[in-house]
Amino acid sequence: MTLGAREVLLCEVGPRDGLQNEQRIVSVDDKVRFIELLVAAGIREIEVTSFVSPRWVPQLADAENVLARVRPLAAGALLSALVPNERGLERALACGVGKISVFTAASEAFAQKNINATIAESIDRFVPVVRAAHAAGVVVRGYVSCIVACPYDGPVTPDAVRETCARLAEIGVDELDLGDTIGVAHPDDIARVLESCSSVRPMDELVLHLHDTQQRAIPCAERALALGVRRFDGSAAGIGGCPYAPGASGNIATELLDDLCIARGYSTSIDRTALGRAARFIESVLAEPVVG
Ligand code: HMG
Ligand code: MG
Repeated sequence: MTLGAREVLLCEVGPRDGLQNEQRIVSVDDKVRFIELLVAAGIREIEVTSFVSPRWVPQLADAENVLARVRPLAAGALLSALVPNERGLERALACGVGKISVFTAASEAFAQKNINATIAESIDRFVPVVRAAHAAGVVVRGYVSCIVACPYDGPVTPDAVRETCARLAEIGVDELDLGDTIGVAHPDDIARVLESCSSVRPMDELVLHLHDTQQRAIPCAERALALGVRRFDGSAAGIGGCPYAPGASGNIATELLDDLCIARGYSTSIDRTALGRAARFIESVLAEPVVG
């Protein structure tokens, strides 16, 4: 997606990253309503679900049903989904997504726990996925998790992150998304890793995916903005976390990201009042007592 000079793109990952880690399984009706409210708030890109193994992430086993219901409602928004392998891609293409996200890590231990593969194996697995996605006219995002630290292996170097980015770029992913999976980064860590990865893709094409475990995600986003990053992921109400990253909390809240961008003189596509409505809706769904 091309951006204007003072424009920032906020991609909403709440329906995927936000709901994948919930103890409850949110109903298809509530997921659809959440996505509908996000579209009404002017969000241009929404990661709506994952086509992963339902054994691994039962919370998103309803991916086909969700997409079938939201596609007709999401006219102006690009809908994307996580895809770990060729099986996932077939499912995603059958649902008509416009974009997919393959995902690996800069840490071997996390790759093993999250996708049961080494980093190299995961990238080999993505080669036919990227080729077939492009043949179908679908854009491919490549996530790199653990850009600062791994929940199993500890600190991760910017070189390791750049190396995984370079491999993903070689196999043809269109966009690189850098994830502070467990939300432990300081602004200086973010600056170091961005500077390193900007040798693979320019700052204004990289996407930053922050979790807010230590309440430093906003200062990190602020530093990234100052360095030229123009694409961020967030989740309404700051919901989320990864089931295979113990200790990780929610994503940076999209509302706070939007406030930051506006305060620094950037525009987003978002109607802040309507975004607040989406955030309150999903908060109320998640506040209901878990049955069973
Ligand atoms: P595996 O067990 O090694 O693979 O899992 P497998 O090929 O042996 O398959 C196991 C079972 O899953 C089989 O079924 C397959 O058919 C099925 P069974 O025979 O046991 O009944 N299966 C599938 N079913 C539906 N769709 C598919 C699919 N693939 C296999 N696509 C696998 C390997 C990659 C599948 C598994 O590890 C997996 O699904 N992992 C996903 C974990 C996940 O979603 N984690 C959260 C997302 S990543 C994240 O949150 C980080 C991010 O936000 C960025 C950040 O914050 O850093 C993106
Ligand atoms: Mg995440």
